[in-house]
Amino acid sequence: MIEKLNSIKEEALNEIQDVNDETSINNFKSKFLGKKSAFSDVMSGMKDLSAEEKKNVGMVSNEVRSFIQDLIDKKADSIKKEGLNKKLEKDKIDVTLPSKKRRAGTKHPLTQVREEIEDLFISMGYDVVSGPEVDSDENCFEKLNLPKSHPARDAQDSFYITDDMLLRPHTSSMQVRYMTSMEEKHAFKMICPGKTYRRDDDDATHSHQFSQVEGLVVGENISLSDLKGTLECFAKRMFGTGREIRFRASFFPFTEPSYEVDVSCFNCDKKGCNICKHTGWIEILGCGMVHPNVLENCGFDHTKYQGFAFGAGIERIASLKYGVTNMRDYFTNDYRFLKNFDRKEI
Ligand code: PHE
Repeated sequence: MIEKLNSIKEEALNEIQDVNDETSINNFKSKFLGKKSAFSDVMSGMKDLSAEEKKNVGMVSNEVRSFIQDLIDKKADSIKKEGLNKKLEKDKIDVTLPSKKRRAGTKHPLTQVREEIEDLFISMGYDVVSGPEVDSDENCFEKLNLPKSHPARDAQDSFYITDDMLLRPHTSSMQVRYMTSMEEKHAFKMICPGKTYRRDDDDATHSHQFSQVEGLVVGENISLSDLKGTLECFAKRMFGTGREIRFRASFFPFTEPSYEVDVSCFNCDKKGCNICKHTGWIEILGCGMVHPNVLENCGFDHTKYQGFAFGAGIERIASLKYGVTNMRDYFTNDYRFLKNFDRKEI
């Protein structure tokens, strides 16, 4: 029996060499120590032995069992380690590889243009303010010298929420808010960019929602030449230093005199092209000297103070600057359009 045990030990020692994964280790275990193993046969034969023989065989069998168990444990351990090493080898991170460039979104073109306008006016000492998009009839029209009979007050042009409240049709309502909220009246310069709403049928050049930037300067001895100088600076900053502006007489109830301002076409330099509809000029905003009634309505003494105001469409400026021909592109969130305004990562 002892010989048998020793040959089992020998055999196990030989066979363990071929064991190299989890399945074969399980097979090995059941072959050498399992219920149907040669080892287990020896154990069941022990009951027929004399006490002395039992003792000897018992000792050897214990030794052989723990020898085999030891082989199994060591092998299992090395298989595990080997697996881990292989995994580490495979998952190795090469820290010297260049990283994948992640695209980090970008500001919407209208935001970029608005911020550019803000930067310019901040550099000239203007306050930048914002206010509610739903405002009263009084702020949007009444105090701006727009009489009740004025067609702009027609429900067909504006979105009324109640009889007295509406989505502001222009940022000029902020002229009123700014001036009336000032406790002690004094000279100031402000711009107010923001969203505005009108009942328009949406097409390539119209949208029921758009944005404007309002400008208002009030002080003593403010004249039309201040307005001209300011707008010239604005046009050159937005469209290039070679640009000229021209004033065309116009009408707004809240300014007197009133003008529409054109900028010389940046595409053809006044020669005439598709962009300027062959006139050499492109209209960019409305403006004028603040009407004395507006100053008085907002608590300013018009014999002491004068001012100028202007209102420009941000979509229009952005479109002229970037050659955008369909206004809807600003609102449909199409990545193919938006990516053109991405600041390149270098
Ligand atoms: N509010 C006018 C518009 O929306 C623009 C404007 C603003 C004109 C300020 C003159 C002065 O058309």
